Amino acid sequence: MSNQPQKTRFGVIGTGRITRRLVADLQSTDNVTVTAIASRTSDRASWYASQYGIATAVEGYEALLQRDDVDAVYISLPPSMHAEWAIAAAENGLHVLCEKPLALSADQAVAVDVACRNRGVRWLDATGWLHHPRTDSFRDWIRNGRLGDIGHISAAVSFYQPFQSGDHRLDASLGGGCVLDLGWYACGFVRFASLGMPQEVAADVVIREGVPQRLTAMLWLADGVTATISCGYDTATRKWFEVAGSAASLICDDFTRPWAERPTRCWIHDASGQVEGHTFEGSQERVMIARLVGEQALTEWQQNAIDTHLTLDAIQQSVDSGGGRVSVRQAVG
Ligand SMILES: NC(=O)c1ccc[n+]([C@@H]2O[C@H](COP(=O)([O-])OP(=O)(O)OC[C@H]3O[C@@H](n4cnc5c(N)ncnc54)[C@H](OP(=O)(O)O)[C@@H]3O)[C@@H](O)[C@H]2O)c1
Repeated sequence: MSNQPQKTRFGVIGTGRITRRLVADLQSTDNVTVTAIASRTSDRASWYASQYGIATAVEGYEALLQRDDVDAVYISLPPSMHAEWAIAAAENGLHVLCEKPLALSADQAVAVDVACRNRGVRWLDATGWLHHPRTDSFRDWIRNGRLGDIGHISAAVSFYQPFQSGDHRLDASLGGGCVLDLGWYACGFVRFASLGMPQEVAADVVIREGVPQRLTAMLWLADGVTATISCGYDTATRKWFEVAGSAASLICDDFTRPWAERPTRCWIHDASGQVEGHTFEGSQERVMIARLVGEQALTEWQQNAIDTHLTLDAIQQSVDSGGGRVSVRQAVG
């Protein structure tokens, strides 16, 4: 009898650009294997399976959920399809790793959570940065007074067009636009760094080609803390934040994903211009996957996802009202 732990067998739903990266991460995480991949078309599923060393190609997502060699799914579809397929997977007794944004709204996010709880399966959204070992240091510095009292948080996430033809980011019916796509990271960071929910928000978007292509928002948090976010498809890649405290600022220029071929880094910048640089090792995706298939409670990350959707709901409400200051629902229900 082998003492090897049983591997969690993943089925992959969708064959997009990010899928390639995550399949490699799944295949290189201990105690995880990828057994099948599903596409809308059998040709694409077969091509993908042969390219990435996956044993079984499946036509149609539903067929993948029915397989008995799949314990968990990785969902890599346009945002409008996330909640539907996460819930369907949970109802089939499968654990769920779902691409960001988890859903289109906080109500949908909670429906995913409820479906998973009802079937006793685990779920995470695939927001890798939350799982990088560096993020533990962010949390410690913010909480342990290293920065003094936190006054303001800012986050900027962007990349520059052009899009590929038919990109779901330019299709409102598929959940396209930078509010959900990039606002997800910025609002998620504010939620993480403030250790609480924003209370009010005011937001403005620039619409082009039918979807928001630039988002600017102000957020008001407890104890007089404020935050600003800037996201969009019309400036070069930015993935940075500043957490400004009374004693020092924590600054990071690669928080969503470390730059290729550069150390994972951040800086603490004090009032005299003294800069303390830090670099880190580790794969955020492999830690994330290991946590999903492990046994520790996932509540912290699940709550962050639901709270991020509550903030994004309020941002959308503010945009719809012409930029007015609106309250953020503190919970669903
Ligand atoms: N975590 C990260 O770092 C990260 C990075 C990039 C993107 N993402 C997220 O990952 C998700 C997928 O993004 P992506 O850039 O990989 O997308 P993509 O390249 O457009 O792939 C999406 C896949 O969804 C499937 N699909 C099903 N219905 C579709 C429809 N009506 N239109 C288009 N595709 C459809 C397609 O697979 P089949 O045709 O094979 O069924 C397609 O390959 C998004 O939610 C995005 O926000 C996350």
